[in-house]
Amino acid sequence: MKYNFDESINRLQTNSVKWDEVENLFGDKEILPMWVADMDFKSPQPVIDALKERADHGIYGYTTRPDSYYEATVGWMQRRHNWTIEKDWIIFTPGVVPALGIIVQNFTNPGDKIIIQQPVYYPFMSVIEKNGREIVNNPLRLENGRYYMDFEDLEKKIDPSVKMIILSNPHNPVGRVWAKDELTRLGEICLKHNILVVSDEIHFDLVYEGNVHTPFASISEEFAGHSITCTAPSKTFNLAGLQTSNMIIPNQDLRERFTKALEDRFIGMTNTFGVTALIAAYEKGEEWLDQLLVYLKGNLDFLNEYIKSNIPEVKVIEPDATYLVWLDCRELGMDAKKLEEVIQKQGKVAFDEGYIFGKEGEGFTRINIACPRALLEEGLKRFSQVLKK
Ligand SMILES: Cc1ncc(COP(=O)(O)O)c(C=O)c1O
Repeated sequence: MKYNFDESINRLQTNSVKWDEVENLFGDKEILPMWVADMDFKSPQPVIDALKERADHGIYGYTTRPDSYYEATVGWMQRRHNWTIEKDWIIFTPGVVPALGIIVQNFTNPGDKIIIQQPVYYPFMSVIEKNGREIVNNPLRLENGRYYMDFEDLEKKIDPSVKMIILSNPHNPVGRVWAKDELTRLGEICLKHNILVVSDEIHFDLVYEGNVHTPFASISEEFAGHSITCTAPSKTFNLAGLQTSNMIIPNQDLRERFTKALEDRFIGMTNTFGVTALIAAYEKGEEWLDQLLVYLKGNLDFLNEYIKSNIPEVKVIEPDATYLVWLDCRELGMDAKKLEEVIQKQGKVAFDEGYIFGKEGEGFTRINIACPRALLEEGLKRFSQVLKK
């Protein structure tokens, strides 16, 4: 089936955080939302069909996860990521961020240090700080328009109270797919210092042609035994509202500790629609995903061209993956608050402002390009016109 990603779908009055919260969040309902990471596209038809059939049944009682839930997940990791996992390693959680909170609570103690690599997905900071742990920032290095990990800085900052690293792989917001040798070097440092690697791989399916995602845990048995991998069909298939994610934990001891932490919090019951959607997506969603990736690449090319022609002072950080594009606006010479004000209040378009990803994000902004091209063009037009003013 041929999907039409150009179709414009009105999301207003669907309780959409992205669209229906605009006035609440930004104080002006005319603002075009291009911030939070969901897509303005319909999910794959087999997912819609499966959900309709399930909805038509009319009874939405307590729901279990059948064998096919686990088999579909194992099959996906094998086919799309060449990663052989076992059914037992898969632990359901109702979202990745809730899982990160429990991981932090359960595998570190108050006062312990946790490494992150800023600029990075801002809830990483919140789960650490709200749980009374300390952030150790190992900032990424920007060199000639591309971000790299800084291993020297990392080793300098490690001390015995560093217990965990939360890795964004592929990285939100800078769009890097970490190469196998980078992950290997990182993993070896972490293993040497007994630092648990929590690899958030939620964007792992959204990789542009020419790049290959490497699951951290797939690199070696040692890495597998020393890590928790966060996965979900939510970013890939636009299912974030169904709150269905899976932690992959090969190490039995870590798995049992995590499972106990979930049980102690009475977390584990499944969303009826989440189960149905995951199975349909992982079993029948590949055709849609392959077309989506082509469309997103088209959007990325469009954005590159548009910015080059209209606002060449803004530099696009070319992503290897994700539909989130990190724009370097430092040449515009505005401080972080001014940039936000100009884009949002005057330009009437909402991006995710760079500074919320950490100090290193000041002067940058993050645009979500997972929308019909016409809408992307409208967003870019607002952005460029206000800057030209
Ligand atoms: C790196 C990363 N992790 C987690 C999430 C959210 O996960 P969830 O909705 O499952 O809590 C996002 C959403 O943007 C993300 O970018």
